[in-house]
Amino acid sequence: MMPYSYVDLLGEFQIGSAHPGGFDRTKAVLQKESFEKEMKVLDVGCGTGDSAFYIAKTFNCHVVGLEHHPVMIRTLEQRKKKEQTSIQIIEGTVENLPFDSKMFDFVLCESLLAFVDINQALNECYRVLKDNGTLIINEMIVKDMTIGDRETFKEFYGVKELHDETQLVKKIERAGFKTIKPFHNSSPLPAQPIDIQLTPNIDPELLHVLDTHVKIQKELGKNIESIVLKCKK
Ligand SMILES: C[S@@+](CC[C@H](N)C(=O)[O-])C[C@H]1O[C@@H](n2cnc3c(N)ncnc32)[C@H](O)[C@@H]1O
Repeated sequence: MMPYSYVDLLGEFQIGSAHPGGFDRTKAVLQKESFEKEMKVLDVGCGTGDSAFYIAKTFNCHVVGLEHHPVMIRTLEQRKKKEQTSIQIIEGTVENLPFDSKMFDFVLCESLLAFVDINQALNECYRVLKDNGTLIINEMIVKDMTIGDRETFKEFYGVKELHDETQLVKKIERAGFKTIKPFHNSSPLPAQPIDIQLTPNIDPELLHVLDTHVKIQKELGKNIESIVLKCKK
C-alpha cells in the first residue's frame, strides 16, 4: 500500500486542471456558456481551483469551490489570498452538499464522479441547481477495459466505479436531468504532461506515485476516453 494516494499527489504538487483535456478544454467549454454577473456557480471537487478562479475572474459571477481534501483546501485559501479573487471556498463532500436546494445556476463537475458515490453526487448536484440550471460534466469514461485492468486502475486512483458512456448517461438521467447533450469534441486525448516543481525535499514516495501514474496511463491509456456532457435540470 502506498502512503500517498493519486489525489494526495495532485494536492502536494499543486497539479491543477486534473481532468480530461486540461484547462484548454475547460476554457473552450465554458466560453460556449453565457454567464452573467448575478449567477451562482458551484465547482464540485474543484481541486486546486483552476476552473473556479477562471470563472470568477472571467465572468465576474459568484463562484463557490467545494473540496474535501485538506491539502486542496489549503492551496485554495492561499491562492485566493494571492490572486485576490472573491471565490467562496467550502469544505464538504459532493455526496452531501452543504447548500440549500435550488441555489445555483450552474454546477461544474470535472473528473470527480469516478471517485465518489456517483448516484448520490448526481442527486445532490440536481438538488442544489435552480430549475433549468445547468450541470456540465467532464469525465473519463472507459472502453473495453479488462476486469483485471479495471481493478488495477481503481485501486491505484482510488476510483469507486468506472463507467462507459451509456452507463454514465443512464445515471445522469436517473438523477432527473432532462436534456443530456454531448457538448464538446471528446475524442481521445494524448496523455497530458504533468508540470511539477521538483525540490530537494520531495518525499520519494510521492515520486513513486507519480511514476506509477505515468506507467498506468501508458499501459491503459488506450482504454480511457472522456466525455463532456451538458445536462439541464
Ligand atoms: C481528479 S481531481 C479533479 C480536481 C478538479 N476538478 C480538476 O479538474 O482539477 C478530483 C478531486 O475531487 C476531490 N474529491 C474527491 N472525492 C470528493 C468528494 N466526495 N467530495 C468533494 N470532492 C471530492 C479530490 O479531493 C480532488 O481534488
